[in-house]
Amino acid sequence: MNNSANHDALVQEIRALKEAKNALILAHYYQVPEIQDIADFVGDSLALSKKAAETEADLIVFSGVHFMAETAKILNPTKKVVLPDLDAGCSLAESCPPSEFKAFREAHPDHLVVSYINCSAEVKTLSDIICTSSNAEKIIDSIPKDQPVIFAPDVNMGKYLNKKSGREMKLWDGACIVHEAFDLEKILNLKEEHPEAKIIAHPESEPHILKVANFIGSTAALLRFAEEDASSSFIVATEHGILHEMRKRLPHKTLIPAPALEDNTCACSECAFMKVNTLEKLRNCLRDEKPEIHLSDTIITEALKPLERMFEMS
Ligand code: 13P
Ligand code: SF4
Repeated sequence: MNNSANHDALVQEIRALKEAKNALILAHYYQVPEIQDIADFVGDSLALSKKAAETEADLIVFSGVHFMAETAKILNPTKKVVLPDLDAGCSLAESCPPSEFKAFREAHPDHLVVSYINCSAEVKTLSDIICTSSNAEKIIDSIPKDQPVIFAPDVNMGKYLNKKSGREMKLWDGACIVHEAFDLEKILNLKEEHPEAKIIAHPESEPHILKVANFIGSTAALLRFAEEDASSSFIVATEHGILHEMRKRLPHKTLIPAPALEDNTCACSECAFMKVNTLEKLRNCLRDEKPEIHLSDTIITEALKPLERMFEMS
């Protein structure tokens, strides 16, 4: 069989398995195009967690990274949640080890802890409210101004939120390797070549990148902005996978991936964690119902509380 026949056979097999097992395939916008194309739903972190919360499926196949699949499990403790590759981690989640975060929290007992959803289930148990890049501003703004807040684990998003809200939240010093890697000089050179292009950036990017952005938002907000804005050209500073959905929705617009530091090959930023998932691994985990996400009852109960507060507040 040639490659295209192999691909078609794999797609058929995945469709049949999905049907037979009443499974739901959720995929983040940063997944490889062939996974996005076969998923039942593609979205940003907030939309995916909402879908996971309301599904009637028996099996949830989460094609994203580990903390996302964990979130789906916390929201569906009686369901089986599988991830195509358990090595799909996240530098941001890993930059916040639970024991160190617990000590940080205990050192500031009067602070409310707001954690970005890109953290482990254990860190969620140490948090009062979870947020995503889609609802962070709204959630932070709804907390009384005199209430001290810890924001974790993304320092770049924390700085952005401090600026927007006028607060001085205490920030955990974590970051995303992908969004930290954008090269300002190369972005400005691109802007000179395409003066009509608007720079749009994810708030996980560093302050000097956000400073030159015309629009800042979650992956879903970046998509919406590119759709609704009158400009015909955009320099997109977030993970490269988003370009797949953007190009589908906006075939008539020019969409340019923002270049990363030391990136002289494809001029794009890819999350190596997101990209460990492949169509073959997706088929395998659907067929074998593993690797499965397991969490203790205590972690599920405690991590659910800040997630429920997020849903109430957003
Ligand atoms: P959103 O899906 O909230 O835009 O976050 C992007 C991201 O980095 C996910 O890992
Ligand atoms: Fe984590 Fe960054 Fe990859 Fe998102 S893009 S999964 S935040 S490393």
